[in-house]
Amino acid sequence: MMENKQLKSTKGILLAGGSGTRLYPLTLVSSKQLLPIYDKPMIYYPLTTLMLAGIRDIMIISTPQDIPQIKRLLGDGSDLGLRFEYCVQPKPDGIAQAFILAEEWLDQSPCVLVLGDNLIFAPHLSQLLQKASQRKSGATIFSYQVSDPERYGVVTFDENNKVTQIIEKPTNPPSNWAVTGLYFYDSKVTEYAKCIKPSDRGEYEITDLNQIYLENDDLHVERLGRGCAWLDAGVPASLMQASNFVQMIQARQGILVGSPAEVAYHRGFIDAEQLRKIAKKLLKTDLGRMLMDVANEGLGEKK
Ligand code: DAU
Repeated sequence: MMENKQLKSTKGILLAGGSGTRLYPLTLVSSKQLLPIYDKPMIYYPLTTLMLAGIRDIMIISTPQDIPQIKRLLGDGSDLGLRFEYCVQPKPDGIAQAFILAEEWLDQSPCVLVLGDNLIFAPHLSQLLQKASQRKSGATIFSYQVSDPERYGVVTFDENNKVTQIIEKPTNPPSNWAVTGLYFYDSKVTEYAKCIKPSDRGEYEITDLNQIYLENDDLHVERLGRGCAWLDAGVPASLMQASNFVQMIQARQGILVGSPAEVAYHRGFIDAEQLRKIAKKLLKTDLGRMLMDVANEGLGEKK
């Protein structure tokens, strides 16, 4: 009998470990992914990205000391209509190790990995993510033009927009197109992750995993153009820029950025009553009041 693995629904992995040394002393005693980006903990933003891709089964991977705090914040996901699984990464041995740690839970499902310090804001993001999710085989990554590509994975393209090269933190970057921390993979990902050897800095590199897909002619790169924002909150300046960005958009447009509760409601994972329950606990904040407005919109109660 033919087994149809594609019928398995896509799962999400949120990688929220690491030592956060580039943010010391901020991260000496607290998890980097729980630091604030304006009015929400950092982890809300990548969580929202997974939800916008329609994902409801999510494994959260972090350090032994940070997992308890993340659990206190997010619980089992049921209040957002999600299912969370927690997993400890004993040491920060590299991003690609996530697939080895998650192997049993993934059970050969296609999956999306998001880094816990990445914030993506783009028009029609939901459609873009769902398109990537619908791709039957291969990997899809997203790239974004930056002025400091040497800090990231970098991709190059040929004249037909086909990706030709992917390099991790090149000293002399061959292009300005950085690879963002959002990756879609088919069911072969764990098998490929097991082939990776630690790099010179001793990590299982996500770029080496993408390199395998590239060699198999199965790496798709979506370019995020003008009008999109991709921020990673890895150093103090980018942490502040991310906060300023969220504050500016929310204040100017009166919309929320990176609210799992709002997305859960709009995606139909929870109903208006559940959204009101979440909002009630936050009513002393603009965030809580905005969530209450969203819940009441359908009733014509919005001022
Ligand atoms: O942000 C996008 C970039 O992320 C990509 O362009 C690079 O190709 C990719 O290697 C990665 O680069 P970084 O230098 O930003 O990776 P970093 O070591 O800072 O890890 C990113 C996040 O993943 C961070 O929040 C901590 C978490 N992490 C990292 C490692 C290595 C873990 O949870 N476990 C780990 O073992």
